[in-house]
Amino acid sequence: MRNERDLVRQHFREQASTFDGLYEARVKQVQRLLRPGMTERVVKTVEMLEQAGSPVVLDVGCGSGRVAEALLKAGTSRYVGVDFSGPMLALAATRLERFRDRTELIEGDFMAVDLHGPFDLIVALGVFDYIADPVPFVQRMAALGESVAASFPKWTWVKGPIRKLRYEVINSCPIFDYTKREIEFLFRSNGFDRVKIDRMGNGYMLQAWKR
Ligand SMILES: C[S@@+](CC[C@H](N)C(=O)[O-])C[C@H]1O[C@@H](n2cnc3c(N)ncnc32)[C@H](O)[C@@H]1O
Repeated sequence: MRNERDLVRQHFREQASTFDGLYEARVKQVQRLLRPGMTERVVKTVEMLEQAGSPVVLDVGCGSGRVAEALLKAGTSRYVGVDFSGPMLALAATRLERFRDRTELIEGDFMAVDLHGPFDLIVALGVFDYIADPVPFVQRMAALGESVAASFPKWTWVKGPIRKLRYEVINSCPIFDYTKREIEFLFRSNGFDRVKIDRMGNGYMLQAWKR
């Protein structure tokens, strides 16, 4: 039987170009309604990156490289992107071609790939939505990096049921929700002493630092 991770991987193998297209200007108006935080979370992450100078960045679930492009333009000195969807990484490789001297793309599960930290900043945008067990995920982040920028979805009775229907029933892709308290506990208990959580779009944006 396929586990939750296999289902998520399969979903993002099949949906790579559809997901990438969500960033295109022509679909932006509709997307702002469905996914209001998608642009804002990139802006917040770039701000965090700029405060860190020219950091070494690990992007977990980097997808098609849209976030990477913004981070590399903003001065990332070395960028490592990990994703378990080959088609997503193929799009990222094309998009990031001009930054190839500062970029490494790794295909595989974040929990299993070989990674050599420390990273100044670990980014995970639109990824915790699909993580069935976030505790080991955050533990690995804590072992590899000094700070984290991540987005988390929040359950609402208006959009929650539609989202569940769209992902889990129609697309067979499991999704998960978080409360602010859960996010705070996840990071504080793993050594991130400074934690900032803001409401963003349909969820939360976390910025966490070890000191
Ligand atoms: C919604 S996309 C977000 C992509 C990108 N971060 C962005 O914001 O544009 C989520 C990505 O996370 C990847 N992903 C989910 N769980 C993963 C895991 N355990 N290891 C590696 N990649 C993962 C998926 O393959 C997918 O490309």
